Amino acid sequence: MSSNSTLSVDNKAVDLSVKEGTIGPSVIDISKLYAQTGMFTYDPGFTSTASCESKITYIDGDKGVLLYRGYPIDQLAEHGDFLETCYLLLYGELPTAAQKADFDYRVTRHTMVHDQMNRFFTGFRRDAHPMAIMVACVGALSAFYHDSTDISDPHQRMVASMRMIAKMPTLAAMAYKYHVGQPFVYPQNDLDYSSNFLRMCFAVPAEEYKVNPVLSRALDRIFILHADHEQNASTSTVRLAGSSGANPFACIAAGIACLWGPAHGGANEAALKMLEEIGTPDKIPMYIAKAKDKNDPFRLMGFGHRVYKNYDPRARIMQKTTHEVLSELGIKDDPLLDVAMELEQIALKDEYFVEKKLYPNIDFYSGITLKAMGFPTSMFTVLFALARTVGWIAQWSEMIEDPSQRIGRPRQLYTGSPERNYVTVAQRG
Ligand code: CMC
Repeated sequence: MSSNSTLSVDNKAVDLSVKEGTIGPSVIDISKLYAQTGMFTYDPGFTSTASCESKITYIDGDKGVLLYRGYPIDQLAEHGDFLETCYLLLYGELPTAAQKADFDYRVTRHTMVHDQMNRFFTGFRRDAHPMAIMVACVGALSAFYHDSTDISDPHQRMVASMRMIAKMPTLAAMAYKYHVGQPFVYPQNDLDYSSNFLRMCFAVPAEEYKVNPVLSRALDRIFILHADHEQNASTSTVRLAGSSGANPFACIAAGIACLWGPAHGGANEAALKMLEEIGTPDKIPMYIAKAKDKNDPFRLMGFGHRVYKNYDPRARIMQKTTHEVLSELGIKDDPLLDVAMELEQIALKDEYFVEKKLYPNIDFYSGITLKAMGFPTSMFTVLFALARTVGWIAQWSEMIEDPSQRIGRPRQLYTGSPERNYVTVAQRG
């Protein structure tokens, strides 16, 4: 359905069509605005701009709603599993039992990585950040799997998607093992996705490893919660990279690079580092004061969100999972946790945070949970990237399959020097 709106530019009325979605705000179609007025629109940070049409994920930031293909995130996290969520995001519907078995089998068959990748890993320093390794290794997949880089072939696109969903845990675990100086552990395909990942991270050849089902379920839930999040910075990066026709492995590597930043996926690592820096609950008031001070760049990491201005529905589920994991592991007197719980309470009541609607976000709780499971902070964003890979792929596929797709090419407001003539070095004063 569409209607019209009128914009007045230099006393000239410009008719613009309004497009309506199934839910959420309508959009004013300005794609012809430049041709009609000679003007661009200006929206740094894209706070009022829809960059694409999508059927995958819906967020209502004021109501704290997150839907994957129409299903509320809490229902999926409560009743579903991660591979089922992957199927839903990729194909638009929840799988039947037969479709699920087939999908799980297809993903599982791709879990191993080319043996030559091992050599690629050993080129890194042992103290390399695992996200640096992930950016490089996922990009390098395009050098290993030439038979799935032709984006015009739907079969190759499907194979590349399966490969990335399947190999991401293997690569992430290899990045971790390399970092801690332990031998790589190969995937074991009779385990489910999350159990397999836990085993590849924490098993050693010298001992038998038994997967803890509570931890494996908690990890699976963390993966579901992170699987997609509409047109965020890394997803937009993947779409923009893909719009030029770049191969899918290169596009996902671009998404991983973007996710690494502390304002995005790097926030879980930054949140835990902040808790460590605060150290004891008595220092919290000092840090709250720093966060409120306009002249101090310090922010409470793990608080606030660009879209959720009421609460982050993922944070609510994550908070429950955090407590389940801590109770399973018998962790009661962790000083870090004391700081986290008290900080959460103080910030929830503090006028500054309440007024600006700065609630704990998913990263605040996921960091605590992952630490309790035994992951070092440097791995937190890697786990986020692992889970988000399916969302990036679903969004990339949707874009490739859209017949109206063109290369993404934003314009700018130029404020530099007007045209001027070159002067030789001898003539410059
Ligand atoms: N601590 C203290 N003050 C804050 C914080 C914070 N965490 N976040 C926002 N503010 C203040 C900010 O100073 C500004 O105040 P004023 O209006 O007086 O200038 C106001 O709140 C609005 O902030 P903003 O930067 O304009 O908001 P934004 O929508 O551009 O930023 C954000 C959103 C998530 C980048 C920001 O809240 C932040 O930096 N949070 C900490 C990092 C973090 O936890 N990021 C994870 C986001 S969730 C995971 C993901 O989606 O990747």
